[in-house]
Amino acid sequence: MNIAIAIDGPAGAGKSTIAKLAAKELSFIYVDTGALYRAIGLCAYRNGIGSKDAPAILEMLKDIKVELAFNDKKEQIVLLNGEDVSSLIRTPEISMYASDVSAIPQVRAFLLDLQRNMAKTNNIIMDGRDIGTVVLPDANVKIFLTASAEVRAKRRYDELIEKGMDVKYEDVLSDVITRDYNDSHRETAPLKPADDSVIVDTSDLDLNQSVEKLISIMKERM
Ligand code: DC
Repeated sequence: MNIAIAIDGPAGAGKSTIAKLAAKELSFIYVDTGALYRAIGLCAYRNGIGSKDAPAILEMLKDIKVELAFNDKKEQIVLLNGEDVSSLIRTPEISMYASDVSAIPQVRAFLLDLQRNMAKTNNIIMDGRDIGTVVLPDANVKIFLTASAEVRAKRRYDELIEKGMDVKYEDVLSDVITRDYNDSHRETAPLKPADDSVIVDTSDLDLNQSVEKLISIMKERM
């Protein structure tokens, strides 16, 4: 039996950075499911479709293929109709698009099997919003990773600045608050901790402390 570890939590809680390091330490595959919603958001954006225009997005889904693959360094790449869009999906516009398209139930259904199949064939750490509640309800370990909105916005802001993007902290904070609201108030698979998850608040932890904490919870429960 493969081992599955689900990590859910709001935008900017550090899920991907922390989960990636923990996966390396445990020699597990790391899957970032947000990249899938981002790829669909990017596709809508490129086609001039509004992020909440469900009928047009459903029509678009008929003709697109979203896949996950891994490069030589075992890092995940996301393919949209065969094109590697892993970097293109990391902009503030596409973050908002991803949050909006992810509220459409058919978009979630479209991505469900792909995510579950990854866990059938690998020991996996998967991060997202509904991994412990919907995608992998039988995961061996479930962690809900969170931090205050201000701390999360500051981390996201630093990341974007480092990538050379011209952003303001206030805008990043307001995006974080809007995305939190959208992600936790949608009807299908809203962001919430699974009943059997361990809640970890990283507001006062640095990266190393967060990784250590997660690995100790994982080892204890695996
Ligand atoms: O983790 P992220 O910021 O890359 O995710 C982008 C958006 O995708 C996020 O606002 C909500 C959505 N998402 C989701 O609904 N379910 C997931 N499992 C992962 C992401």
